[in-house]
Parts: sequence; structure tokens; C-alpha cells
Amino acid sequence: MSEAIDIKAGSEESTGVDTPPSYVRPGSEQDKMVGAIPAANDLPLEEINPVWNRLFAENRMLEYFERLRRDDPVHFNETEVAGRYWSLTRYEEIKAVDTDHVNFSSAHGITLGFPIDQPLPEGALDISLFIAMDPPKHDVQRKTVAPVVSTRNLAGMESLIRERTAKVLDSLPEGETFDWVEKVSIELTTQMLATLFDFPFEERSKLTRWSDVATAVPGGGVIDSEEQRREELIECLVYFTQIWEQRKVNPTGDFVSMLAHGEDTKNMEPLEFLGNLILLIVGGNDTTRNSMTGGVLALNEFPTEYEKLRANHGLIPNMISEIIRWQTPLAYMRRTANSDCEVGGKQIKAGDQLLMWYVSGNRDESVFERGEELIIDRENARQHLSFGFGIHRCMGNRVAEMQLRVLWEEIMKRFENIEVVGEVERTFSSFVKGYTSMPVRVTRLK
Ligand code: HEM
Repeated sequence: MSEAIDIKAGSEESTGVDTPPSYVRPGSEQDKMVGAIPAANDLPLEEINPVWNRLFAENRMLEYFERLRRDDPVHFNETEVAGRYWSLTRYEEIKAVDTDHVNFSSAHGITLGFPIDQPLPEGALDISLFIAMDPPKHDVQRKTVAPVVSTRNLAGMESLIRERTAKVLDSLPEGETFDWVEKVSIELTTQMLATLFDFPFEERSKLTRWSDVATAVPGGGVIDSEEQRREELIECLVYFTQIWEQRKVNPTGDFVSMLAHGEDTKNMEPLEFLGNLILLIVGGNDTTRNSMTGGVLALNEFPTEYEKLRANHGLIPNMISEIIRWQTPLAYMRRTANSDCEVGGKQIKAGDQLLMWYVSGNRDESVFERGEELIIDRENARQHLSFGFGIHRCMGNRVAEMQLRVLWEEIMKRFENIEVVGEVERTFSSFVKGYTSMPVRVTRLK
């Protein structure tokens, strides 16, 4: 999420941000490659680079990760723009690095970025957000906003979420094809965000737009250029600065009120404020949205599991963990080595980037038998890597699980079947693993 929203700190009075020129983003180099994607087993290992948006958009990444787990589980790449980086593809090494924040830093960014020993290109100074910080700053900022998603706060929100979910499901057309992503996944996650931010409800689609803009690859359908991203994110900052001013006077218990009143956050710089907003918007948006879509898709791909669910709604909580494993909404997180070290028998140099490919660890057969399949009563589904581990473990995991549980409880009360009736379109990103559309038809229970 950090490099995805690089903007330059400057001195303009209104926002503290000035205009950056364009630059090549790390991880976008391979997008220039045209033609059919080769089979993973046909390529020499040194030609394999999993940071390739098309692999994800065309749903070809799993065979690449299978190859890497088998033949080169800690895999090296070096590119002109990103420098040296390693892909960790097995469960064991991913968990070991994720839980070791002393040796592996988040402070240089959590997606593939520029080499840390070189000056950033003009226009690419990172804005600051706590997912991309180390202790002690990380811990202080996380502690400030964590109460919004505490179990107690969530319990109070469940009935409102259920009511909103029911309303969306009741409004779905029967007997005609519609886009599940637009009508259900986006709508529900946006409503949830509006609740967490106490955001003007009728303007809630702005939140979805800002989340999409923050993580989009220019030219991939959402934005055309870095310049456009910068402009739209500044709009976001300006809008939220007004809300901040209001909440300073009248706190309402939402994320912004907590940031505006927190001892350690109330004097945040504009870019730090923007960073934390984006983190909470993106964190709670794409991820849950794509799990909502992924669940329906997976039950269509594995119809005997759908049968199991129809026969036993008590499987829903475990199924939610399994859907989140199977989907893996964020394909990886990055760390940077603080010193020379060894991971999986490979010599890592200080400053090297390490990509913890959760999407691959979640298919590691030594932990998840028949890992490519959705098995809704899988015993160890909760051991999935999708929320990460250690001090950065997803802060919103209970919100996400609650939202998905409520959604499936309400779905099973209403629908005999949700059928995927056409091609699914996938997000052009090797970081956000998701969908842009999925045509479905629903049949209500008689
Ligand atoms: C299925 C849904 C979700 C998935 C798969 C997911 C995944 C993740 C992952 C992989 C991380 C980083 C873990 C690490 O580096 O070890 C993370 C961190 C985070 N997530 Fe989520 N997330 C989800 C939903 C949410 C929601 C709903 C929110 C907010 C309401 C949220 C807010 C955050 C925040 C604030 C962090 C940063 C935590 C830190 O650095 O201490 N996430 N999430």
C-alpha cells in the first residue's frame, strides 16, 4: 500500500503536496511484455518473476508459485527499477520472516519498491502509514485507532451491518444476470467503511473510488497516470481535513475522531494523516470486497462444498476462514532485511527486499492438503497466512470476518443458489488479488 501511493512532500499551503513528474513504478516493468504467458515449467528459473500483474489478471499465478515452491522456494530477482528482491513462497519461511520485525523492517514499504540505498525518483517520496513503520512509532499509532475495531465496538455494530446486508440482498433482481462485484461486494464494503468513518452516507462511493485509486496500476483501467492518482488523493486529503476539523470539536467515536484526539496522532503532518486514512480505507475495502466475490466463485467451482453448506449452516464461521485462505486478498507483503542473513538457505544482503507471498504459502501442501481446493470444513483453515502474523497482523481481521459471516448467514436465509454465469474479470495487480466483475444469477428459496 505504501509505494502504491507515493506522492511528494512539498510546501503548498493548502495540502502540503506539490506536483510530481511521472516515473516507472517498481513491479510494472514486466507489463511491457506482450504475447501469451508461457507455462511456468517451460521457463528457466532465472526468467521467473512473480511480480507480474498479468499473471494475476489472467489467473496464471498459481502454477508459477507451485513451480517456485518445488524448485526454488526462496527465489531471487533483480530489476533495474526495484533492485534486489526475494520471493518467499513456502509457509515456513513466510511465517518466520513475518514474525521477526527486529531483523525484517516494514519501514521501507510493504509493496515492492525502489532500492533503499538510492535516492527516490523525484515525485516518489513515500507518504507515511503505520503498516509501513517499525516500533515504536508503529505500535503507538496502531494502539490509537485499534479501539474502533475492538470486539466490544464490533458487537454494537453487528445489528446495523446485518440490517444493511439484508437490504442489499433483498434488492437483488431474480431471473436476470447482474454483476455481484458491483451490486453486493462493493456496496457492502463501502457501507461498512462509511460506518467506521462516520462518513456522509450518500457520498460513500467516494471512499471506494479513493481506495481503488490508491492501489491501481496506471493504465490498468482505474487511473491513467500517477498525476491523476496524486490529484484524486489530494481531494481525499482535503475532504477528510474538513471532517477532521469537525471531529476535533464533536468527536463521534469513528476513526477520524480517534486520530484527531489521540495524544500521539493529533499533530500529524498532512501526509501522515493521508497515509493513515488510505491504510484504513484500502485495508477495509479491497480485501473484504474480494473475499465476498471469491467466496461465491469458490462455491461455484467446488459445488459439493456448496451442498455441504446448504446442509449445515453451522459451517459458516469455518468457511469464512477457508474463503479468506483460498482467496488471499493481498497476495504478498514486503519486508526489508536490516542486516545480512540467511533465509531458507539463501544469503540475503542487508537492504534486500523480501516478498512474503501469502497466496503461495496458503497453497503449501505441507500445511494445507489439497491446497488449491476450497474445503469449507478444513480443520486448519484458521492457520491461513492471509492476515499476516506478528506485530502487523491485520488490525481489521475481526471486522472482516464478522462482515463475511453476516453476509453468508443472510445469503443462506434467502437464496437456494447463486450461480456464476459468465467470465470473471480479475484485478490487474500482483498485490491486490481480486475481481473487477463477476456475472451471476440468483434463485431465491421457495
Ligand atoms: C479479508 C479481509 C482482510 C485481509 C485479507 C487483510 C489483510 C491484511 C494483511 C496481510 C495485513 C498485513 C499483515 C502483515 O504485514 O503481517 C493487514 C494489515 C492491516 N489491515 Fe487488513 N485485511 C483485511 C481486512 C481489513 C479491514 C476490514 C481493515 C479495517 C477496518 C483492515 C485494516 C488493516 C490495518 C490498519 C492493517 C495494518 C496493521 C499494522 O500494521 O499493524 N484490514 N491486513
